[in-house]
Amino acid sequence: MSDRTKPAVIIDCDPGHDDVMAILLAARTLDVRGLTTVFGNVDLEQTTRNARQTLEFAQLTSIPVVKGLAHPLVRDIRHGAHVHGESGLDGPTLAPPTMPLGDGLATEFIIQQSHIVENLSLLPIGPLTNVAAALRLDPTLPSRIKEMSIMGGSLTSGNATPTAEFNIWCDPEAAHVAFTAGIPIKMVGLNVTRQVMATPERRAQIRAMNSVASRHVADMLDFYGERYRAISGLPGGAMHDPLAVAALVDPDIVRFEPMHVAIELHGAHTYGMTVCDHRHLPAHDPAAGRLTPPRDANANAEVAVAVDSDRFWQLFLDVLATYP
Ligand code: RIB
Ligand code: CA
Repeated sequence: MSDRTKPAVIIDCDPGHDDVMAILLAARTLDVRGLTTVFGNVDLEQTTRNARQTLEFAQLTSIPVVKGLAHPLVRDIRHGAHVHGESGLDGPTLAPPTMPLGDGLATEFIIQQSHIVENLSLLPIGPLTNVAAALRLDPTLPSRIKEMSIMGGSLTSGNATPTAEFNIWCDPEAAHVAFTAGIPIKMVGLNVTRQVMATPERRAQIRAMNSVASRHVADMLDFYGERYRAISGLPGGAMHDPLAVAALVDPDIVRFEPMHVAIELHGAHTYGMTVCDHRHLPAHDPAAGRLTPPRDANANAEVAVAVDSDRFWQLFLDVLATYP
């Protein structure tokens, strides 16, 4: 049974190695009302299969999995199999999924839950296609969503391109809809997530737990880490998605600053970039020819600017140790 004293969330995901880490962390620290799946790291069929396999090995099958959209709103579809493997979860040998899929579509589930659950928050950790579609289906949705903690974007450079982060780049138009909906946003971007790597030392700590779950996680992070080493020479895979969860669990793990964030939809070299205004200027009233306080008056997001990596790992390892 979910613990109703914890913040209630729906995780919109594209598992994905780091999505799995986010699901495991959230299931013990938040009231997870469901997983909605979207294309992204791999195609929708596979991300949905991976979500079910994750809940099954973690013995979390009371959490429903509801399928979402298989294609971006406008642009051509892109995937991330070069990082996550053809299955999207290469590394461990997981039993084929047996748990049933939840009824209906992700968009309907998000809207329906927003009427049932007070103070529902969303945890989008893949492309924002489902979120945008739900917002277009029900324009009153923002009034029933407490906040969104989004793994996406970057205050600095991208990963999918020099300027764009993968989740945003997979569906920039959807990201524009999400960032202009008026819902409070925590944007957890690459500028902080890259600082939290599953190094060989961390993976050894996990493998030493010697449980079914920790062995699967270690196998996942070994595969993920090897791809990171091969692609960028880094010592381990970045814990992108679980940091968006940690931001809702412990305010001392990720530090945020208010900023206006625009999604670039036209740039030849910047399509999908999160253009973050970190000048922190007071509002400028051209007619009056003067600056008027407060600063960041046009901010539409809290953007992550710093992370306490050790504090994150302490939380994640403590939680992982609770799984069988
Ligand atoms: O850029 C990192 C993001 O892209 C993460 O959510 C990862 O799972 C991939 O979807
Ligand atoms: Ca993801």
